[in-house]
Amino acid sequence: MLTLEGLSKNFGGLPALQEVSFRLRGGDITALIGPNGAGKSTLINCITGVLAPSAGRVDFLGRDLTGLPAHEVTRSGIARTFQNLRIFPRLSVLDNVLCGLTLEAGRSFFSAMLRLPPLRHRERRLRLRALEALDRFSLADKAAWPAGILAYGDRKRLEMARAFVGEPQLVLLDEPVAGLNAAETAAVGREIVRLKSEGHTLLLVEHDMDLVMSIADQVVVLDSGRCIARGTPAEVQRNPLVLEAYLGRMEPTA
Ligand SMILES: Nc1ncnc2c1ncn2[C@@H]1O[C@H](COP(=O)(O)OP(=O)(O)OP(=O)(O)O)[C@@H](O)[C@H]1O
Ligand SMILES: [Mg+2]
Repeated sequence: MLTLEGLSKNFGGLPALQEVSFRLRGGDITALIGPNGAGKSTLINCITGVLAPSAGRVDFLGRDLTGLPAHEVTRSGIARTFQNLRIFPRLSVLDNVLCGLTLEAGRSFFSAMLRLPPLRHRERRLRLRALEALDRFSLADKAAWPAGILAYGDRKRLEMARAFVGEPQLVLLDEPVAGLNAAETAAVGREIVRLKSEGHTLLLVEHDMDLVMSIADQVVVLDSGRCIARGTPAEVQRNPLVLEAYLGRMEPTA
């Protein structure tokens, strides 16, 4: 479904990604792991058009997406969440999810201009879809709240609702359970598995190894911008390069 070929990104001459190549198969959960600063978020940013890669190619369903702006990538069927949450605190929870449908809202505005079926109906339909998305992520009862007053765990789920509302074919999740407690993590894990069972393809950047190893079909390991391993969770767990990347740099925790 998605093929990365020799993807590289430099920041001021310093390489953050170096010739990363791998494929995502449709319907799979692929986990992208690696130590802090390995280049995981940079990779997602290069796929989604937030950053332009310095070299290499991004192919999605046979279409070359390399260097396209973010809205074009979204239009092609790829959605994402951000590691540092990007919600609009003054907008309602519902309106934050509606932002994930702006492309369709734009189209409906256009059809209103052309005197196609009334805009009101379209709007109602979009709001209904947004409410359904909120319901999936257990946020429907907070739809009218300003998003800024949501607790952290709810904000994470709001980002996921916004990513999935447009029924994208591929969703990239950047650390969806970071900062969540064990019960919240398990709930998000179940939701991710359910999304897979409904046919979504997911790329999951995550440090929670229990979650990664229990739900991923494929694991890709980045270290210092390079892809050092790829395989099933079991294969990756016993790969000496992976153990070294993690254990060789382990810092004492506070
Ligand atoms: N906009 C930027 N400008 C300059 N350097 C950057 C920028 N974004 C990332 N980097 C650098 O690129 C490298 C990879 O960063 P990235 O955020 O992709 O890592 P990561 O694997 O997502 O780490 P983490 O697990 O901490 O989120 C780091 O050395 C980082 O400092
Ligand atoms: Mg990151």
